Amino acid sequence: MKPDLISASILSADFSKLKESIAQCEEAGCDWIHIDVMDGHFVPNITMGPFIVEAVKKMTKLPLDVHLMIEKPELFTESFISSGADNLTIHIENNPNAYRTLIQIKNLGAKPGIALNPATPVSALESILEFAEMVLVMTVNPGYSGQVFIPQMTRKIRLVAEMAQKLNPALLIEVDGGITSETLPSCHTAGANAFVAATAIFKHPAGIQTGVKELRNSMLK
Ligand code: DX5
Ligand code: ZN
Repeated sequence: MKPDLISASILSADFSKLKESIAQCEEAGCDWIHIDVMDGHFVPNITMGPFIVEAVKKMTKLPLDVHLMIEKPELFTESFISSGADNLTIHIENNPNAYRTLIQIKNLGAKPGIALNPATPVSALESILEFAEMVLVMTVNPGYSGQVFIPQMTRKIRLVAEMAQKLNPALLIEVDGGITSETLPSCHTAGANAFVAATAIFKHPAGIQTGVKELRNSMLK
């Protein structure tokens, strides 16, 4: 039985009190800290680089789940991993070097992940699934936190789970985008076992701890 993991995306955190907020995630039982790296080309937003990963590494003992939404990720694997990335996920879209990059990530000692945008079919994964330890199914188009979950993606999660059953049974299936206590259960039932959330944790009106608790409880639904 694979564990059900919560990965708190700091994209919605208040950076003026990042250390304190991450400590609250840790106390509330989050499993990973998710760091969204955007370059203004692959997605229309610019966010964090290796420098932030290095700073966050000093703030927590939790593994850092780094999501690269950048062009030419192969140029940056080494700097993100030496800065402290434990999981390093690259996108499959527009990436002719995905195989080489996944191998590079593994050889550098991190867990290699491959992400699919909502419009990318599951078949794109078939030849590469055995070289990844995690698939990230985007449940919004990447670029921003606070977007609305696309319910049709649960069908896609199911297809990835079926493919993993045949080709890579140990694969983790992560979902990212619009994950709340309302949307999480359908992803969980479809076969996802790692759940990224920014808004539902860092912008929860009752605070971070309540946000994490609600996500955790929704896994039982
Ligand atoms: C979106 C990022 C997500 C984002 C999730 O491009 O990859 O990790 O922070 O934000 P929420 O949980 O608010 O949809
Ligand atoms: Zn992300």
